[in-house]
Amino acid sequence: MNLVNHQFRLAARPVGVPKREDWNYTEEPVREPGDGEVLIKTLYLSLDPAMRGWMNEGKSYIPPVGIGEVMRAGGVGKIIASKNAKYAVGEFVYGTLGIQEYLTSNGKGLTKVDPKLAPLPVYLGTLGMPGMTAYFGLLDVGQPKSGETVVVSGAAGAVGTVVGQVAKIKGCRVVGIAGGADKCRYIRDELGFDAAIDYKHEDVKEALRTHCPQGIDVYFDNVGGDILDAALTRITRGARIVICGAISQYNNTGPVKGPANYLSLLVNRASMKGMVVFDYADRYAEAGREMAGWMAAGKLKSREDIVKGLDTFPETLLKLFKGENTGKLVLQVAEG
Ligand SMILES: NC(=O)c1ccc[n+]([C@@H]2O[C@H](COP(=O)([O-])OP(=O)(O)OC[C@H]3O[C@@H](n4cnc5c(N)ncnc54)[C@H](OP(=O)(O)O)[C@@H]3O)[C@@H](O)[C@H]2O)c1
Repeated sequence: MNLVNHQFRLAARPVGVPKREDWNYTEEPVREPGDGEVLIKTLYLSLDPAMRGWMNEGKSYIPPVGIGEVMRAGGVGKIIASKNAKYAVGEFVYGTLGIQEYLTSNGKGLTKVDPKLAPLPVYLGTLGMPGMTAYFGLLDVGQPKSGETVVVSGAAGAVGTVVGQVAKIKGCRVVGIAGGADKCRYIRDELGFDAAIDYKHEDVKEALRTHCPQGIDVYFDNVGGDILDAALTRITRGARIVICGAISQYNNTGPVKGPANYLSLLVNRASMKGMVVFDYADRYAEAGREMAGWMAAGKLKSREDIVKGLDTFPETLLKLFKGENTGKLVLQVAEG
């Protein structure tokens, strides 16, 4: 076949915000599939805040990416050669493809996806890992009840947009916290959130008092730091705080900022619980079916922010930390 595979490999563990020099852009010949293997052409890659954590040394819920290894990434690709009876040429799959143009795989960990049911990038967002995170984080950990107030930070992102919409479907009052007027308008006017707080231009504590007159029953935290602290001042008795992520802390060169207001948990008999989406893997299909149904019924909107070109990866990844994405950030590597 004589195909060439371009890749981004981790060159150094970044200090603070990752730089282009933290990566090596490499090329190598594509390996033909052997017996039981398939060759996948990468079409779309998922860029995730978690990638920043995978670049660090140290224990986490998943091992770090090793120096010299192809950067880990979920993606959707097309089978272009197959010696595996389960996969036919022309089928589309989701898997851990890595930041590269091709992957030769033994088929383990691949899931078929159907472009007739949803556009392929949606399988990286609302019907993919971020959607599953929102669904199980909100419903399983947050346990919202109809009439309760749910607040979500990172509200215009991949996880946050789904959290807010699912909370609306469940009959809650929903307040989103996001950066900038455009994002606030989007979640309020297009996604149906009841209120939006622009944390870059408003006093969050004050705004939470205005928009959550009965207090916060469920706080779904994507950002940590000062916003988590502000939310803790408004929780109700028995509130549930879902620790999904803390993007405001991921590029810190000093210690992570913990919540100063944590005694509010004591006073309010509230709970704060971390969640990792992979723990729900055996229930993804169930959640996918329900969310696809909501999408078909027009109750759940999906938005993808697609940037073209594998070579843009180092800069495109930083959009997450600069707040330059709305909805799911996707890197398009090739045309479907
Ligand atoms: N626990 C799990 O299993 C799991 C799974 C997936 C994702 N997550 C976590 O969920 C969170 C959201 O992930 P995502 O994929 O949906 O990303 P995303 O929300 O689509 O993108 C990240 C957003 O974070 C916001 N942000 C960046 N720096 C910030 C700061 N200093 N303070 C406040 N907001 C900041 C930006 O929006 P603004 O313009 O609004 O600032 C940016 O658009 C992340 O913390 C991620 O690590 C956890």
